[in-house]
Amino acid sequence: SGVERLGDMIAEANTIVPFTGAGISTECGIPDFRSPGGLWTRNRPIPFDEFVASQDARDESWRRRFAMEDTFAAAKPGRGHRALASLHRAGKVPAVITQNIDNLHQASGFASDCVIELHGNTTYARCIGCGQAYQLDWVKRRFDKDGAAPNCTVCDEPVKTATISFGQAMPEDEMQRATELSQHCDLFIAIGSSLVVWPAAGFPMMAKNAGARLVIINREPTEQDDIADLVIRHDIGETLGPFVRN
Ligand code: OAD
Ligand code: ZN
Repeated sequence: SGVERLGDMIAEANTIVPFTGAGISTECGIPDFRSPGGLWTRNRPIPFDEFVASQDARDESWRRRFAMEDTFAAAKPGRGHRALASLHRAGKVPAVITQNIDNLHQASGFASDCVIELHGNTTYARCIGCGQAYQLDWVKRRFDKDGAAPNCTVCDEPVKTATISFGQAMPEDEMQRATELSQHCDLFIAIGSSLVVWPAAGFPMMAKNAGARLVIINREPTEQDDIADLVIRHDIGETLGPFVRN
C-alpha cells in the first residue's frame, strides 16, 4: 500500500524535508483555504496593498483575526505534526518548510529555527514599517479602545499579523533556507497543500530536479501529482499516525 511504500522510503532516506500546508492542521480544528468551507470560500483575501492603503481593510483584517482567536489558541499539534517531530528527533528531518502560520510545528517540538515559515506567523504582530513586534493582546486592547486597528507606537505605520499577504514580499532568509533544504535532501514530502500558491509551490519541483524522491500526501488531487514518485490521496492523520513515536 501507499503507507508501506512511504515507510520504506522514509527508512531508506538520510535527509527528509517535509513541506506542509493547511491540510496538516485541519484535524486540529483550523480550517484550510480551498476545501469546501475553507477560508477563501467564505472571505476574499485582503491583498497587502489594500491593507496598507485602507483603514477599513485593516479593521476588517483584524476583525477576522480576532474571530479566529479561540480556534488558534485552542489548537494542539495533530498526528501529522507529531509524526514529523518524531522524525526530527530521530535525526532524519533537519527542518520543516511550512506555508502555515499557526505555530503548530513549534508546538510539536521543532525548535523555532528548524521551522521555515514561508508565509509568516499569525500568533503575534509586527509593524509593517519598522518591524517592531507586538502581542495580539496589545492589538486587541487598542482596537477595542479606539474602535480601529492601531498603528505602531514607534513609527506610526500600521501593525499587521506577522504573516505574508498576497502581494507582500516573501521573507528572503526563509526563501534561501527553503531553497537549500530542497536542494539537499533525498526525500521531500509535500503534506496537505493544494500546491497552487507560488513561489512556495515551487519547492517540490526544485527538490525533484535536484534528485530527491517526491511524495505528495493530500486527500484531493494537487497541481503537481504528475511529477511525484508516490501520491497518497488519503487523510494525513491516518497516514502519518503510524510514524508518531513518543
Ligand atoms: P489549501 O486549502 O489550498 O490546500 C489544503 C489541502 O489540504 C487541500 O487540497 C485539502 O484537500 C487537503 N486537506 C485538508 N485536510 C486534509 C486532511 N485531513 N488529510 C489530507 N488532506 C487534507 O491550503 P494551502 O495549500 O496550505 O497563503 O494554501 C497555500 C496558501 O494559500 C496558504 O499558505 C495561504 C493561502 O492563501 C497566503 O495567504 C499567502
Ligand atoms: Zn513601526
